[in-house]
Amino acid sequence: MSPSIQHENEPKANGIRQRLDAILGCGQRTYTPTQLVIEKARGCDLWTVDGRRLIDFTSGVLVANLGHAHARFEELFRQYYGELPRNAYNMVAAVEVDAAERLVASMADNPKAQKVLWAASGSEGIQKAMWTALHKDPERTVIVATRGGFHGKKGLAGDVTGESSPNPNVRFISFPMYEDKPESFYRAELDALARDFPGEIALLITEPYLGAKGSFHPPKWYHQMLQAWCEEQGAAFILDEVQACHGRTGNMYAYQSYGIQPDLVVLGKGMANGEPAAAVVGRADLIDALAYGEGSDTFSGNPRACAAICATFDVFKEEGVVAHCQAVAPVVMQGLQGLVAKFPFAKCVRGEGLVFGLEIENPELANRCVLEAYRGTGELGVHFLGPLAEKVLRVSPPLIISEAEIAEAFEVIEAAWARIPA
Ligand SMILES: Cc1ncc(COP(=O)(O)O)c(C=O)c1O
Repeated sequence: MSPSIQHENEPKANGIRQRLDAILGCGQRTYTPTQLVIEKARGCDLWTVDGRRLIDFTSGVLVANLGHAHARFEELFRQYYGELPRNAYNMVAAVEVDAAERLVASMADNPKAQKVLWAASGSEGIQKAMWTALHKDPERTVIVATRGGFHGKKGLAGDVTGESSPNPNVRFISFPMYEDKPESFYRAELDALARDFPGEIALLITEPYLGAKGSFHPPKWYHQMLQAWCEEQGAAFILDEVQACHGRTGNMYAYQSYGIQPDLVVLGKGMANGEPAAAVVGRADLIDALAYGEGSDTFSGNPRACAAICATFDVFKEEGVVAHCQAVAPVVMQGLQGLVAKFPFAKCVRGEGLVFGLEIENPELANRCVLEAYRGTGELGVHFLGPLAEKVLRVSPPLIISEAEIAEAFEVIEAAWARIPA
């Protein structure tokens, strides 16, 4: 067992980290050099067990879009939840139907958003979305995915993640990243698949932007081309918005940012502001391809998840959360560009809405950046996720972050990173 992560002047946190390593396998968590030990969270602030405050640049992992312990959210959540049981398997609660209706209504600009299928995590939602297309027409067995995507680690979601697959039915196509290739390059890949597998393609699954690969946000024509190709092929076009949904890209849904209308949209993370919940929203003929029991499991669509979905929608509306995200997004972008201008190891920034990737020179320096931001000015730090794709810092604060909090965070980061030798 490798030695526990320990930090100076953190007696309580260090004790908990040691106990953690003795009792839990490290495979449980994604490596982060800070290993913040949390005691309390409110708004964009996190407090450690040793009493330090950190400004949250992660929203958990793009989950707490409304921030932590949001008073109005908590009030509405309790109202919707009422006296329902935590689990209503083989029962029906009205809040489940309300939440599903509200999800469909929230996608009124996509005529294909007709029905809902619940899941308890993003990767399960991805798997269920793929099942619907595979069940609808069992003759169609070929699965197309965009290379470098992250859809989860489990089952079919794992099969379409990354660059290669253990599943012989999966074919990867290119997703625009650093290179500047014309539309015809990507179209040629699709045409080749259509030639090789006529009438056999069940689905194409992609992300609005490559998140875990380091924040690569494609031009709009890319997704529009994928959608048109799926229509030609009769294949289901599945958009993985597990991370991008509920305001993250500066629109309620990323499909709106990219001007597309997917057959199935998979939602997770921010949809219930922290309650574990995921959903597939899309074409009724696909969702109805699953018979009784084929998409059910213990926790999907439970009353707490559905109450949280309804409360999240209310707060988005009451507080104009999407408009706020659009207003503060350029302020965060400016702050990040300031870091690129000031620190030679900060190479470039990519992003949209309130989801950015700040590329650092190398993995070692990227980890150092996370660590120094955590140490901050002593009392106050900034909390980052461990680097993505080894050297890209994910910046994804709660969508309700204020300009004053953004300014405070960048002041701390600048002071902290000045300790890193260039
Ligand atoms: C785009 C995307 N899809 C799917 C998933 C998997 O979601 P979960 O971890 O809830 O299974 C994630 C999680 O990070 C994600 O970012």
